[in-house]
Amino acid sequence: MDIKQKLYEKALEIREKAYAPYSKYKVGAAILSEKGEYYVGCNVENISYPCGTCAEAGAIAAMIAGGDRKISALLVVSFGKNLVYPCGACLQRIAEFATPSTVIYVADKKGIRETHTLAELLPYAFNEEGLENE
Ligand code: THU
Repeated sequence: MDIKQKLYEKALEIREKAYAPYSKYKVGAAILSEKGEYYVGCNVENISYPCGTCAEAGAIAAMIAGGDRKISALLVVSFGKNLVYPCGACLQRIAEFATPSTVIYVADKKGIRETHTLAELLPYAFNEEGLENE
């Protein structure tokens, strides 16, 4: 099966498991690592709202727990009225384990709707150069 399609199916499946009783907005994310493994995550909300976590954060945690370090592609899916793009914090989380050319697919109920690079969504990621002192 096509890699994009596999990412979509995995993200759709995990999206169903999301715990989003407050926003009612379920999100699924799937990562293909450079080693060729797939990892998934969904959003997990909390009654104390800021404690909730995004789908992308869950997928990244699964990737790290699985012994992988590099994202080659990531797909995020929701069924909202508008497309879901990774939030600012998640873009930075993705940047930690990706490159500017890493592909990010944005999907909804109908399928994959957009294809972006990380650099398009986060052109000024904070990186090692930023951390350099004078
Ligand atoms: N959410 C994600 O899981 N990923 C995103 O990229 C955007 C937002 C979640 C967080 C919260 O549980 C719900 O969507 C509404 O913000």
